[in-house]
Amino acid sequence: KAAARETFSSRKLFILSAIGSAVGLGNIWRFPYVAFENGGGAFLIPYLAALLSAGIPLLFLDYAIGHKFRGSAPLAYRRMSRPAEFLGWWQVLMCFIIAIYYAVIIGWAGMYTWFSVRQSWGDDAEGFFFGTFLELGDPGVSTTYVPQVLWPLIIVWLVAIVILVGGVRKGIARANGIFMPLLVVMFVLLVVSSLFLPGAMEGLNAFFTPNWAALADPTVWAAAYGHIFFSLSIAFGIMITYSSYLKRKTDLTGSGMVVAFANSGFEILAGIGVFAALGFMAVASGSSVEDSASAGIGLAFVAFPTIISEAPLGSVLGVLFFGSLVFAGLTSLTSIVEVIISAVKDKMGWGRRTAALAVTIPLAIISILLFSTSTGLYVLDIADAFVNQFGILFGAFIATVLVAWVFRKLPILSDHLNLFGSVKMRRTWMVLVGVVGPLVLGYISIQAFNTFLSEPYEGYPAWMLNTFGWGMAAGIVILALIITMLPWSRKSLLHDDPEY
Ligand code: PHE
Ligand code: NA
Repeated sequence: KAAARETFSSRKLFILSAIGSAVGLGNIWRFPYVAFENGGGAFLIPYLAALLSAGIPLLFLDYAIGHKFRGSAPLAYRRMSRPAEFLGWWQVLMCFIIAIYYAVIIGWAGMYTWFSVRQSWGDDAEGFFFGTFLELGDPGVSTTYVPQVLWPLIIVWLVAIVILVGGVRKGIARANGIFMPLLVVMFVLLVVSSLFLPGAMEGLNAFFTPNWAALADPTVWAAAYGHIFFSLSIAFGIMITYSSYLKRKTDLTGSGMVVAFANSGFEILAGIGVFAALGFMAVASGSSVEDSASAGIGLAFVAFPTIISEAPLGSVLGVLFFGSLVFAGLTSLTSIVEVIISAVKDKMGWGRRTAALAVTIPLAIISILLFSTSTGLYVLDIADAFVNQFGILFGAFIATVLVAWVFRKLPILSDHLNLFGSVKMRRTWMVLVGVVGPLVLGYISIQAFNTFLSEPYEGYPAWMLNTFGWGMAAGIVILALIITMLPWSRKSLLHDDPEY
């Protein structure tokens, strides 16, 4: 007899958890600078195009696979078509890598929540972040432990372990039920108060002033599609896993629309809040918003601290900003790790607690050992670039081509979505997933591939790129193949859904 699958107790809690996964570090610090660098106000056009043409349709695809076949990513794909199991393990392994470093940024944000109270960086936010806090040396290998990075990271993993051992209802749903409302309150306070800073309007002008020429640039479109995939957490196995915990009669498409628009709303609010604050900084220091807006890690951990030092009630702004990063990050981290736990649980036939501990303890140890030395940051940067610009998009490309053209499952998946879905689209959805998706994803991943081949990423030494970039990518493929060949627990292969 098949073991009963864990379930969310209501659709509301599923939606909340799916929003918790989608809304993460990507919304708060990634979206504002990606949008700004790619045409500002004009970026909203490729962004919306990417959301409607690929983001939402592929979100539905993940939901349909997870819900119809009711399994973790590898099990659901296997039930769809046996050789497809491999795709599931690819996604599981990508989640493994992302989890290792995603936790680190949450740990930093946690420390910075505390630093904000005392404004520990004085008047040199940059020197403080790279020197005093991270103790960064030249790219290479260092074995010096950095305690101020180590301890918060240990706490982040302990919190994640407690949530994940609790399971779907007592852990994931409950944590989202607490963290998400807190996040919304803190974040709205943050955005509203940043709008009152002197100079806020300059920032908003810089953010929303469209650079129409950007629309003719293919890399801007690629950035929009790449961001949408990351932001909606699609093609990572996350939405497959969460929707496998849904009860039978669920409106999948209606839920998907709520999740997608909540995620975008959050992103656009973040853009407004962040640029209002940057406008303040630019006006205060007599420079332009363009110079103040820096990309990547620097935006959160260098530009923001500078703003905090100068703004009225800066410490409050700082606690709201970094606290939002912590809550948004934790709910995304647990969703990433749940993909792995769910897969191991199914394959081995283990119970929740065993599977959760067997996954999280090694993961936490690797993450902690790797990232509490300064080598970690460089590994993080390289792994992140490979996974985000390449792993996800290429993986999603292979998945859409296989599902649509090799296994030819779009018609039955579309029927499944339409069974209880309030948003009905059949032809359109199949064309978007089967034709538009693969074309766009194929084009973007070839482009990313060429860039990686032609210029060493960020000028890192070749051995580092080979080990942590290409080596890791090859390792994932080989490992996914090996795991696919290992046997399943017999009871997991039985379908627990009598109507299936
Ligand atoms: N969607 C999350 C964000 O916007 C990031 C994420 C990516 C979460 C992949 C889970 C998996 O930050
Ligand atoms: Na997001």
